[in-house]
Amino acid sequence: DGFPAEKLFTQGFSYTYDDVIFLPHYIDFPADAVNLSTRLTRRLPLALPLVASPMDTVSESAMAAAMASLGGIAILHSNLSAAAQASLLRSAKSRRVPILSDPPFAAPSAVIDHEDDFAASPFLLVTDTGTAAGKLLGYVAKRDWTNQSEKGLKLGAYMAPPPKAAAPWNADLDAIGKIMDGEKCGVVGLEREGEVVDFVAREDVERVRGYPKLAAAASVGADGEFMVGAAIGTREEDKERLEHLVKGGVNVVVLDSSQGNSIYQLDMVKYVKRAYPDLDVIGGNVVTMYQAENLIRAGVDGLRVGMGSGSICTTQEVCAVGRGQATAVYKVSSIAYRSGVPVIADGGISNSGHIVKALSLGASTVMMGSFLAGSLEAPGAYLYQNGQRVKKYRGMGSLEAMTKGSDARYLGDTAKLKIAQGVVGAVKDKGSVLNFIPYTLQAVRQGFQDIGASSLQSAHDLLRSRVIRLEVRTGAAQVEGGVHGLVSHEKKYY
Ligand code: XMP
Repeated sequence: DGFPAEKLFTQGFSYTYDDVIFLPHYIDFPADAVNLSTRLTRRLPLALPLVASPMDTVSESAMAAAMASLGGIAILHSNLSAAAQASLLRSAKSRRVPILSDPPFAAPSAVIDHEDDFAASPFLLVTDTGTAAGKLLGYVAKRDWTNQSEKGLKLGAYMAPPPKAAAPWNADLDAIGKIMDGEKCGVVGLEREGEVVDFVAREDVERVRGYPKLAAAASVGADGEFMVGAAIGTREEDKERLEHLVKGGVNVVVLDSSQGNSIYQLDMVKYVKRAYPDLDVIGGNVVTMYQAENLIRAGVDGLRVGMGSGSICTTQEVCAVGRGQATAVYKVSSIAYRSGVPVIADGGISNSGHIVKALSLGASTVMMGSFLAGSLEAPGAYLYQNGQRVKKYRGMGSLEAMTKGSDARYLGDTAKLKIAQGVVGAVKDKGSVLNFIPYTLQAVRQGFQDIGASSLQSAHDLLRSRVIRLEVRTGAAQVEGGVHGLVSHEKKYY
């Protein structure tokens, strides 16, 4: 009944996730028993198959800490200077809780003019020099400043003294909560080597404690720090960027290109493998077996798959190249697994069903942009658009992003005229990833259960042994598979 993948994907069609559907199989285990642990690259294990995309509206320090705490990983974008990217890396790796207040610093003589002076932080730290390197004299909570009747005062006149309680940098939420309860304080400093690296507020601890608990282990490297990846390009100056990142403890690098099968990337893969033999390198993007073979031969430890399937992408329209994402993931995985190179299904994920499809078609992880972009942990502030709370989300090939440096991903080396391959938009507020990812994963486990796969490995084995069966959905079948025939409905999954 139905088709095995190798038959379905050899008929000359390019299928997206929505084009195909799995036939249910036999269930002999509970959904909670489904093991989603996986590998991002040859040597990097993850408890969960989720990766945040290197985009400047998705992956900075807060996303990196949150994804690592869940058992996934984020790849920091490279649309900023090497030093700034390395400091995002240090910020995410310098704690073991998914809460970053990342406070700005000011001198005691400074005056807060506007709430923007707090950046996105609930605190502003007062140091003698007005910089992070100075001695901590006190802090001002945004809430206290907002409630203050007289606004023009110098910080020194009303700042609170430094928190009396401190926790070690690698303390977990329970430990921090206990310190707060014991000391009866609303703020705890996180200390590392005698320096305060950040503050944690009681309301954040309580907020995160209220989210569903995940049994998965956090992604922590041999250094005891969160695992964080970073994107780099393939230009000469990227070698220097890489050096900064390696010094900052980066756990994996992604060579960020929309068409990875190029002489520039092959040379860069060889360089990274030679210069940093302990560092795993992810190549891409690719969508064909030929592209994948070239990169595997050059020595990549992971392959990023997808071209033009992202929600903000216009590559297929602008350049006439790309591939339906279901076909791309299946085809590349079918060759990469022979060399033990894990595949990252990048782009086009807009629901849990797409994650089930990507992983069951051979991918070891999924990389997401839009799915994570409206979250609390994504960079940028919430805005209101037509009465809806939204966050900005833009393609790295949009003109706006390319002015910040991401043109390297799309233009290669010599192009003089910039043509956009992506758009700028906005996505709805989704709340914290720490809250919605556990629900998403439960849905993924149920999908695995329906097809009779108790783990990722088992799904891949069932795919190759032709036990997993698929069919193509006609247009009418896709309409039928979605909500239909109602005058209105609320889309709510949990
Ligand atoms: P989703 O669907 O998760 O896709 O939002 C994220 C992925 O899309 C790719 N990306 C782009 N592709 N033009 C493109 O053609 C762009 O401007 C662009 N920006 C990001 C990238 O692979 C990302 O992970």
